[in-house]
Amino acid sequence: MENFTFYSPTYFQFGRDTENMTGQLVKKFGGTKVMIHYGGGSVIRSGLLDRVKASLEAENIPYVVLGGAQPNPRAELVREGIEIARKEGVDFLLPVGGGSTIDSAKGIALGVVYDGDFWDFYDGTCPIVTKALPVGVVLTIAATGSEASTDSVVTSEDNLKRCAEGDILRPVFAVMNPELTMTLPEYQTASGITDIMAHCMERYFTKTKEVEITDRLLEAIMITMVKESRRLIADPKNYEARANVMWAGTIAHNNLTGVGRAQDWGTHHLENQLSTFYKCSHGAGLGILFPSWMRYAYKNDVLRFAQFANRVFGVQMNFENPEETVLTGIEKYEEWIKSMHLPTTITEIGGKEEDIPAMVDDMFNGAPNHGNFVKLTREIAAEIYKMAL
Ligand code: NZQ
Ligand code: ZN
Repeated sequence: MENFTFYSPTYFQFGRDTENMTGQLVKKFGGTKVMIHYGGGSVIRSGLLDRVKASLEAENIPYVVLGGAQPNPRAELVREGIEIARKEGVDFLLPVGGGSTIDSAKGIALGVVYDGDFWDFYDGTCPIVTKALPVGVVLTIAATGSEASTDSVVTSEDNLKRCAEGDILRPVFAVMNPELTMTLPEYQTASGITDIMAHCMERYFTKTKEVEITDRLLEAIMITMVKESRRLIADPKNYEARANVMWAGTIAHNNLTGVGRAQDWGTHHLENQLSTFYKCSHGAGLGILFPSWMRYAYKNDVLRFAQFANRVFGVQMNFENPEETVLTGIEKYEEWIKSMHLPTTITEIGGKEEDIPAMVDDMFNGAPNHGNFVKLTREIAAEIYKMAL
């Protein structure tokens, strides 16, 4: 195991009706003028936005409201949010929604207190965010783990999807009511589960030796995702399955399971282009790419991939031919993605081979480093995209 630091200050309020405690939590964490941020309107339709407003009003906390965060959120709205927040004297960001809304709010939070262009933190000009307004979250989809993560992923005006990071971006609180996720369309529930699985896989495929504790934690989450996906596809209103998936989403990406080990993230970097080019969900893009990445990567450590196949998908270990175990495991992963009615090829989401050079250009535009278990060159990235067609 490698040396590490781990700072995870988020206060979790988990369970039924917890959104009604939002006002108390904002007060507890020092907010005196709030910006409520939301997405395309699901929180209006469900009545959640009204409940959150009422809980702020009950505590006499003034607020402004900014909606419109798109899936795979855009820099334009972050700029608008920064301007409004400065003008209104906002000192606390309250995203009510999914990863896109949360990340957009984190962009506003870091931009308000920075004199330069907020994008400096996304394009690598400033590598780590050290100052931001506090962010508290009301989560409506189990997926990205942004409710407790150090990251904010935003897409620029010229369509480059990039990540800003820093411990300061970990939300101060997260309200997590699994019932709120019951209104999700099946595609988003499945995409979220695939993203949670992917956050485990990016950590699982490591070159670091002797990481049994985090291996086993990751396996627990991945096995749970396979099981709970079945329950939720059959019964989207299953509270217990929703609860397990929601907490899994948090611990899969607050880095509890990733400390002390090298992590890969090459597939996430490849995915950025699928969601920007074809507007698929982040999770759907990951489900398409992971089999191809695994088929490319497994020869670097056949036994680790065989362990994944055996422990997560229950493939019997073939000691004489572990490669066969690996390939069966990859097939099982693909079958699992299909069982959630998600696509497994780039073609299915409208992609074409002639787009690959442009996707590779965007991926490497000002960002030379991708992957750790397998370092991705432009040629390898193009090959993996091609394998996933
Ligand atoms: O916008 P609304 O109307 O709310 O609808 C959303 C959106 O259309 C809908 N939705 C969310 N909760 C709902 C609901 N519909 C009905 N009922 C509910 N309870 O679902 C759609 C997707 O929402 P979005 O926020 O985009 O989903 P997700 O949480 O998967 O976020 C994806 C974004 O997060 C980034 C991804 O790249 C992508 O941009 N990521 C962020 C990370 C982080 N900050 O740590 C890490 C991840 O790896 C990821 O990169
Ligand atoms: Zn992800």
